[in-house]
Amino acid sequence: MQNTVFRKVERDYNLKRQRAQNDAKLYKKNVYDENPILQEIEDEINMISLKSAKARIFSDDLNRRKEQEKLEYKLNKLNCKYDDELRKIGLTREDFKPKYECTKCNDTGFCDNKMCSCFNQELINESFKQSNLAKIKEENFETFDFGYYSTCNNKEKYGIEKSPLENIDGIRRLAYKFSHSLNDPEQKNLLFTGSTGLGKTFLANCVASEVIKHGKSVIYQTAPILLDKMVEYKFKFNKTESDIEDYDKIFDVDLLIIDDLGTEAMNSAKFSELFNILNTRILRNKKILISTNLTPQEIKREYEERIFSRFVGDFIICRFVGEDIRILKKKMMK
Ligand SMILES: Nc1ncnc2c1ncn2[C@@H]1O[C@H](COP(=O)(O)OP(=O)(O)O)[C@@H](O)[C@H]1O
Ligand SMILES: [Mg+2]
Ligand SMILES: [Zn+2]
Repeated sequence: MQNTVFRKVERDYNLKRQRAQNDAKLYKKNVYDENPILQEIEDEINMISLKSAKARIFSDDLNRRKEQEKLEYKLNKLNCKYDDELRKIGLTREDFKPKYECTKCNDTGFCDNKMCSCFNQELINESFKQSNLAKIKEENFETFDFGYYSTCNNKEKYGIEKSPLENIDGIRRLAYKFSHSLNDPEQKNLLFTGSTGLGKTFLANCVASEVIKHGKSVIYQTAPILLDKMVEYKFKFNKTESDIEDYDKIFDVDLLIIDDLGTEAMNSAKFSELFNILNTRILRNKKILISTNLTPQEIKREYEERIFSRFVGDFIICRFVGEDIRILKKKMMK
């Protein structure tokens, strides 16, 4: 079986690289059309370079050596002239270089004989297209807005001593630290709980963005889709190489984000897949971030003991409180 995901991403990279190179060529051509002097100098440089290279082959000959020195001198002058002409129109040679998306691998997907982190992330994105990782462009630690969280202390309403603002400030710090401690065996996993609209998914996206920025891989998936996929895989008769790869990634990816746990209809096959994920990843020191609308008490009631005890032992439980931000936003629009 061919590895379709890999080949698709590889093809995209070739296209992306070619596009950057063609764009650069086209740009240069346009600049040259408007400034023919550049072409003239370049032609001259090319001609002299060729002569100089020839002279170098016979550089044991004294006359040739002198000739070569002269040529080198001319070349230098021409190069300066070329740079001067460019400067006059506000450009440098840099402007003619292809603009690659990744400056580490120049969109080849490989650097230092290893797969570039950008390529690795593309493989993951491709396999999990339906995940909303696209949102991390808008939802990240830089765009995080504290303005939606109240400064009022109201234990009766929120169930905690702190104000929602103080509370979210603490959770945000935990989440930020978590993003930078994925390899730390002392770092526990995160469980975001709280009712809908309190910013759990937003903060999960902040974490995803931060982690990807630092070259690590992330899979974001909602619990219903993830568990369905896993059960489907288990019962699939003819597993392709790419099926196997996708499945293995759930256990190997640097960070797995499971959103909306508790919205899926559970059954024993899904329980055992969920337990399998938690157990395997925890044993491998691979971090998990789970977000749920259920309270810890509800999890205890609705999930198996072996799953609940994982949550208690290996997760930091972050309780989100406040007002539904979706509603706040609507009110502000009025
Ligand atoms: N800190 C934040 N800054 C700006 N917008 C936010 C913030 N937290 C949440 N939002 C916005 O509020 C809405 C609800 O947040 P979301 O994360 O989906 O809540 P939850 O996952 O808890 O149901 C979304 O539109 C989201 O973009
Ligand atoms: Mg959510
Ligand atoms: Zn790269």
